[in-house]
Amino acid sequence: MNQIVLEANQVHKSFQLENSQIDVLKNISLSVNSGEFVAIMGKSGSGKSTLLSLLAGLDQPTTGHINLNGEDITDFSEEELALKRQSDIGFVFQSFHLIPTLSVRENIEFPLSIARQNNPDRVDELLAAVELTHRSNSFPHQLSGGEKQRTAIARALVAKPKILFADEPTGNLDEKNADQVMQLLLNLQQAFNTALVIVTHDPGLAELANCTIHIVDGQLQ
Ligand SMILES: Nc1ncnc2c1ncn2[C@@H]1O[C@H](COP(=O)(O)OP(=O)(O)OP(=O)(O)O)[C@@H](O)[C@H]1O
Ligand SMILES: [Mg+2]
Repeated sequence: MNQIVLEANQVHKSFQLENSQIDVLKNISLSVNSGEFVAIMGKSGSGKSTLLSLLAGLDQPTTGHINLNGEDITDFSEEELALKRQSDIGFVFQSFHLIPTLSVRENIEFPLSIARQNNPDRVDELLAAVELTHRSNSFPHQLSGGEKQRTAIARALVAKPKILFADEPTGNLDEKNADQVMQLLLNLQQAFNTALVIVTHDPGLAELANCTIHIVDGQLQ
């Protein structure tokens, strides 16, 4: 089924510096279908993280429109964006962003608890999917990098998002853990039919994608 879950239409992003303005993204249009795996590649500073932030509703474009799961989020308030992120989006960062005072289980539960939901079975399912059931009571500082990222992936998927964004999710991992985390992301994409948008420097990974987007100097090639 080729339902579009994400569409960017002529997106432009500028940042105001002290005496000048930089145009970081220029005229970006793209679409992602449900369950599709899209890789984003490009040099450092080309605008990949900025693009991901806009697509995921973490920041707003200067001009242009972003449609997420059938809703134009461009003019959403902060509150509306937060709700949209809760219901439709998962995000995985290079540096994990776990909450240090919460256990693995509590970190995974966190998106449900802020949405005032309680679903221990779903948390168990994700713990098992990322093979961390035996570490559910551990705290982030007790985990390896790979285990931290697997926790972050489980947290990103617990609320059944339509689309998962990951910004260099294996950038802080050694090769073995990187391979395991990538395999896990691909397995979960299949199992939950979640669209996957990943920023990566790994050409091998990009080869596995349904589509690879190359950004050069803020523009799609
Ligand atoms: N809030 C901001 N204010 C000013 N400039 C910014 C801001 N965020 C990003 N930039 C600039 O936008 C450009 C693109 O940054 P971005 O983080 O998107 O690059 P990237 O492709 O993700 O790079 P990397 O591979 O190093 O992570 C850079 O020149 C950066 O300095
Ligand atoms: Mg980046």
